[in-house]
Amino acid sequence: MMCRGRWHKVADASRFINIADLRRAAERRLPRSVFDYIDGGADGEVTLRENTRAFDDVTFRPRCAVEVPACDLRTTVLGTPLAVPFIFAPVGSSRMFWPRGEEVAARVAGRIGTIYSLSTLSGCRLEDVKKSTPGPAWYQLYLCGGRDVAAATVQRARETGYSALILTIDTAVSGLRERDFRNGAKAILSRKLVPLLPHAWQFVSRPRWLADFYRDGGLMKFPNVMLPDGPMPYADVAAALEQSTVTWSDLKWIREIWKGPIVIKGVHIGDDARRAVDEGAAAIVVSNHGGRQLDGVPATIRSLPEIVQAVDGRVEVLLDGGIRRGGHVVKALCLGARAVLIGRAYAYGLAAAGDAGVQRAVDILRADITRTMKLLGVGSIEGLDRSYVDVPSHWE
Ligand code: GLV
Repeated sequence: MMCRGRWHKVADASRFINIADLRRAAERRLPRSVFDYIDGGADGEVTLRENTRAFDDVTFRPRCAVEVPACDLRTTVLGTPLAVPFIFAPVGSSRMFWPRGEEVAARVAGRIGTIYSLSTLSGCRLEDVKKSTPGPAWYQLYLCGGRDVAAATVQRARETGYSALILTIDTAVSGLRERDFRNGAKAILSRKLVPLLPHAWQFVSRPRWLADFYRDGGLMKFPNVMLPDGPMPYADVAAALEQSTVTWSDLKWIREIWKGPIVIKGVHIGDDARRAVDEGAAAIVVSNHGGRQLDGVPATIRSLPEIVQAVDGRVEVLLDGGIRRGGHVVKALCLGARAVLIGRAYAYGLAAAGDAGVQRAVDILRADITRTMKLLGVGSIEGLDRSYVDVPSHWE
């Protein structure tokens, strides 16, 4: 009876009221080092916190006494119809959060009618991920393994039907993720028994995660980084990022092998936005890598107006970072984002309860967006504009 009750509790995702609830559940299920990989940022985590906090600086200007019987959340990004104005951001190592994590998340993205973006640093083969979603998918390219390895992956992504390539341009080196030194991630990945021992308890104390981890084949590899002797072994992500830098000069050869749209992610300032457009980007993502790279840059919602102005309608502008509520999504759209990318919001759900957790995360955001739009007096995504928000005067 007890057992049945507990199972029922796990299966009933409606007890998660907001994304913070999913975060807490993820923290309870994951070993510290895995949770910190999702949750943490660089250095003092100032930008990480600011990404979410800065949404509070944007306030709404609703039109009241307006009846909005239905709310249409549909939009398009790069011509692709979306049922909701958010896309799944690339999130590395999702397979460490839940068995076959990338496939599970992609399945939910497709089911709700949006795009799943697969990170190079993922644990499932890009072909399997594409097969698992009935919807469109984008591939996020890092150059780890070198140009030939990346070119082979791009070829695979093209043949498999990925419809856009995301190039992340903010990884000249990896940000310093201080939590990794404290939580044992560095020691564990050294694969030496003695440094690992003091950190073993975090795994032993998470038997549900441990059982899933072993059932899923143990430590993942990076099967989309095919080195001459096989898939790149799982490594400290910081080490992988070190070899991943994409520069403007790489765009030329990448464009030669990838004929489809390229999305440049990691744009902070108007000058880089203009450069990305001049270099042929089909869309850009205002992103500070979720506060995981250069700490001290402003929140993305703060950078958005400058970039929208610089781009001047020439390409679509997307935004990621800090989104934990549907109201955040609506604020970004009012300030000119075509759509947003959600990362941690769905990753917490995945880590908390797999498919049901990801589904719950998107249900929460979808319901929030609908309610916020109704309270604003707007019935469709294209109806949202700058007149529905105020920003501090120094933002302009
Ligand atoms: C990978 O891109 C990461 O930020 O960990």
